[in-house]
Amino acid sequence: MEVIILSSPKEVEEMGGRILADQIARKADSVLGLATGATMHGVYHYLSLRHEKHGLDFSKVRSFNLDEYYGLGPHHPCSYHTYMCQHLFERVNIQPENTRVPDGLAQDVEAHCREYEAAIEAAGGIDLQLLGLGEDGHIGFNEPSSSLSSGMRIKTLTPMTRRTNQRDFPPGESMPMHVLTLGVGNIMAARRCLLLAHGAKKAPAIQAMVEGPITAMCPASMLQQHRSCTVVVDEAAAAFLQLADYFRCVYKHKPEWQKVNG
Ligand code: GLP
Repeated sequence: MEVIILSSPKEVEEMGGRILADQIARKADSVLGLATGATMHGVYHYLSLRHEKHGLDFSKVRSFNLDEYYGLGPHHPCSYHTYMCQHLFERVNIQPENTRVPDGLAQDVEAHCREYEAAIEAAGGIDLQLLGLGEDGHIGFNEPSSSLSSGMRIKTLTPMTRRTNQRDFPPGESMPMHVLTLGVGNIMAARRCLLLAHGAKKAPAIQAMVEGPITAMCPASMLQQHRSCTVVVDEAAAAFLQLADYFRCVYKHKPEWQKVNG
């Protein structure tokens, strides 16, 4: 696991955008695993600008989102499908048929999950999986106690995640209790993982993920086993890392070309 500590949230989001842009530039038909959440706003903004000003070409890119609220249709204003359209899909030249977000209205959840996994497989697997981090150590919506080899399935959110994510829903509208999410096993199958986190609230989860034991109580800790995982955090999120100085030293002495390529 490579840990890159930068000084501000903006730098974290821009670095995320640069790594994704570099992936697309190197492989035009990249298969991207995409994530939502506030941390990704700047990432998608960066990619939209790279498309607009420098012609970054998404025409052959294929994407699979990690998760979706169960019970929300694609056009619901708070669905992750709507989020993706607003923040990325409508701002770049990605082909709508090349984008997938789990169907929050799937009637046969089991069949939908198996079909979604098969579609990822048919696309050749995920080249680069973008990840945020929940304050409780979740990735995707794999809450604590999730199997570390899990596949895509329906999950029940913890009260903590429901409280945190309630901010994305208008006052008076309660958020769903259930979600569809790719599993930790699906995430581990990606060729490269890129996890971004910033802010003091993420510091305990970052420390547990990077330096704690591998445990289902912090599903993100499984990324310690991933063969190519880059973690980009700001100083506030890195505050509890015992090896912070070592991580800074490693990054400082990396050759320039390797800073984005991992
Ligand atoms: C949400 C999403 C995750 C996201 C995480 C962090 O619950 N399911 O995919 O990465 O929580 O969100 P934020 O970036 O808003 O802190």
